[in-house]
Amino acid sequence: MRDQVQIEKRRTFGIISHPDAGKTTLTEKLLLFGGAIQTAGAVKNNKIKKTATSDFMEIEKQRGISVATSVMAFQYKNKQINILDTPGHKDFAEDTFRTLTAVDSVILVIDCANGVEEQTKRLMEVCRMRKTPVIVFINKMDRDGKEAFDLLDELEQTLAIKVRPLTWPIGMGDRFQGVYNIYQQSLNLFSANKTKIESKVLEIASLDDQELDAYIGDKAANELREELEIVENVYDPFQRSDYLSGDIAPVFFGSAVNNFGVQELLDTFCEISPSPIGRDTDVRRVEPNEEGFSGFVFKIHANLDPKHRDRIAFLRVVSGKFERNTFYYHVRLDKKLKFSNPTSFLAQDKSIIDEAYPGDVVGLYDTGNFKIGDTLSSGEKFSYKGIPSFSPEIFQELENLDPMKSKQLEKGIRQLIDEGVAQLFIQQPGNRKIVGTVGQLQFEVINYRLIHEYGANCRFVHRNFFKACWVTSEKPDKLIAFQRAKSNSMASDKDGYLIFLAETPFLLSMAEQDYPDITFHQTSEFMLSAKK
Ligand code: G4P
Repeated sequence: MRDQVQIEKRRTFGIISHPDAGKTTLTEKLLLFGGAIQTAGAVKNNKIKKTATSDFMEIEKQRGISVATSVMAFQYKNKQINILDTPGHKDFAEDTFRTLTAVDSVILVIDCANGVEEQTKRLMEVCRMRKTPVIVFINKMDRDGKEAFDLLDELEQTLAIKVRPLTWPIGMGDRFQGVYNIYQQSLNLFSANKTKIESKVLEIASLDDQELDAYIGDKAANELREELEIVENVYDPFQRSDYLSGDIAPVFFGSAVNNFGVQELLDTFCEISPSPIGRDTDVRRVEPNEEGFSGFVFKIHANLDPKHRDRIAFLRVVSGKFERNTFYYHVRLDKKLKFSNPTSFLAQDKSIIDEAYPGDVVGLYDTGNFKIGDTLSSGEKFSYKGIPSFSPEIFQELENLDPMKSKQLEKGIRQLIDEGVAQLFIQQPGNRKIVGTVGQLQFEVINYRLIHEYGANCRFVHRNFFKACWVTSEKPDKLIAFQRAKSNSMASDKDGYLIFLAETPFLLSMAEQDYPDITFHQTSEFMLSAKK
């Protein structure tokens, strides 16, 4: 049962937040605590500048750097921690959604002054859909922000999830004195400290202890006692099973930049977070402790240097043991492949690995064999489901400006779609290519890459669509009737699923009203249960 030990010690998770809440800072502090890096600032260069929306080459360059930090692995307290990086820039939200399919749990960072922000809502929707266990870290307590109870209410109301504080802040901003650890019944006093890891943890036998007053003053001590009484009355006691089922999110307070509250977070995370969990395929559910190896590709990173066309496919191991130089079955292509240079990622270093276990992410050098969502197995024929696509928000039609280069254009756009840079919808008649993205930035990236990497000559023409919905029906004749009636708005996605391109919210709701037998899906998640 040696492999069982390997599986149980792994913790694979992602950190999500609205830009600027402190995701990068917290990631870096976790790496510092885990000993994976020695100095602060090492993760910073991975960050995509929020202001540089037009400077896409700079962004791509930074995305290039981020290959090395796509997965940050380190050992802590006999646990193998794998942090999967998620891009903060909203135009790359799809990357983040897909990465969330490869994690077993999530840490959500909230800025105590801003509370729940737009991107947090969207990311949490994905977590809720998948019942991913979530821990919340309320950051920047060294600054004035919203009251703790208000923040907890906001989390519950806007994210539709129940919360349970496991630490409690003592004051905030200038008056921030530290946190009381409800889970371990200890007091952690705050001292602003950006470079050194130093915590001042004091055991408090009972909250009534006068020692508490001596440490933080009478007023703060009494306030803390009152607030904790309310906490105990309002929130149910913490049960790990509620967290694991995605029903309750434990909450921590701290200040990442000051190394404060991070240790509690990491220690509790190691204690309560799930070890690798199984995944559904189109045939059956696969569990991590199964003998046969299997995994799926959730991300593909292209090499921007045209001289090196190779790409890296990121594979999450779901079951069994992955071994170097062993033939595995590529289910979609129905062929066997072996990998001589599989890489793992350790902070900034990439290194070749001989084996990997469930929960690990392996980088596979690829010359065009992989698409996002592909499954590799020891031989069994099944495909992992649930790498979702979301309705894009910007649509443009791709026009070929040079008929002599149509092959290059075709190849280029297919490869970029395989990498997940954008979604492609084909509209009839004439096989028109409608490219859909979440942000304008992707069009700049696609245009540049089609011209420079594939030698194509093309342009994008804006199409006035509001949403692309996947449409299904229990009644095939109704679907055919709908398709006929809306022929100008119909298209198919990369897998041949039927798409309705709605021009306005009004036209979408009219269609929903007029065709009650048709289901309009805003994400492709429905494919989890549906077969084409
Ligand atoms: P992100 O990855 O979620 O986008 O956020 P990031 O960690 O980059 O943090 C955004 C800003 O918030 C940074 O400041 C960072 O230093 C600051 N920050 C993070 N944690 C805390 C905290 O606990 N307290 C306070 N007061 N600030 C915090 P910046 O000015 O944008 O960058 P920098 O110049 O400090 O690097």
